[in-house]
Amino acid sequence: MTKLLLSLHVLAAIVAVGPVTVAASMFPPAVRRAAPADGSDPGAGTAGAVRLLHRICRVYAGFGVLVPVLGLATALAMGVLGDAWLVASVLLTAVAAGTLIALVLPRQEELVAQVTERRPVERRSTAQLAMFTGVFNLLWATVTVLMIVRPGSTAGA
Ligand code: HEM
Repeated sequence: MTKLLLSLHVLAAIVAVGPVTVAASMFPPAVRRAAPADGSDPGAGTAGAVRLLHRICRVYAGFGVLVPVLGLATALAMGVLGDAWLVASVLLTAVAAGTLIALVLPRQEELVAQVTERRPVERRSTAQLAMFTGVFNLLWATVTVLMIVRPGSTAGA
């Protein structure tokens, strides 16, 4: 049962968090292409790409809920719920999810609206979004390392 839960947890992390990482990282440069700072005409389909990347982030972030749910179920089955590395992972996961929900997705939404309505986009706003996206990526990469290294744990390799 534990092995099944752990497999599903890791699968959810790969399938759900992976696409969010890629699409969110591609989003700011896609906005810059769709709304060039010099006011030149953007290429055909650039606004569509921005909308698609945002949709991937939103939909896969929804599936991403499975990662902590299956993670907590795995931790319960393994009896490691109180371990320091796990508590740290839960906290970091919560901060990563908060960054995505409160900072990355709403700013993406604003930029999708600006691009769709052909309003000018300040470079500052794409740079700021790229920074929040980087913070999100760094946080969940840290959690992944914690999950594998499990500092302080004597169980397993
Ligand atoms: C509430 C948050 C989370 C909890 C409670 C949780 C819990 C767990 C537990 C109990 C294990 C088993 C560790 C072992 O084999 O001893 C595990 C493994 C793993 N978790 Fe999580 N996890 C969480 C979030 C995440 C996140 C956000 C990611 C990555 C996006 C992730 C990726 C992994 C990976 C790759 C493994 C396999 C490590 C290995 O067996 O070597 N987890 N997790």
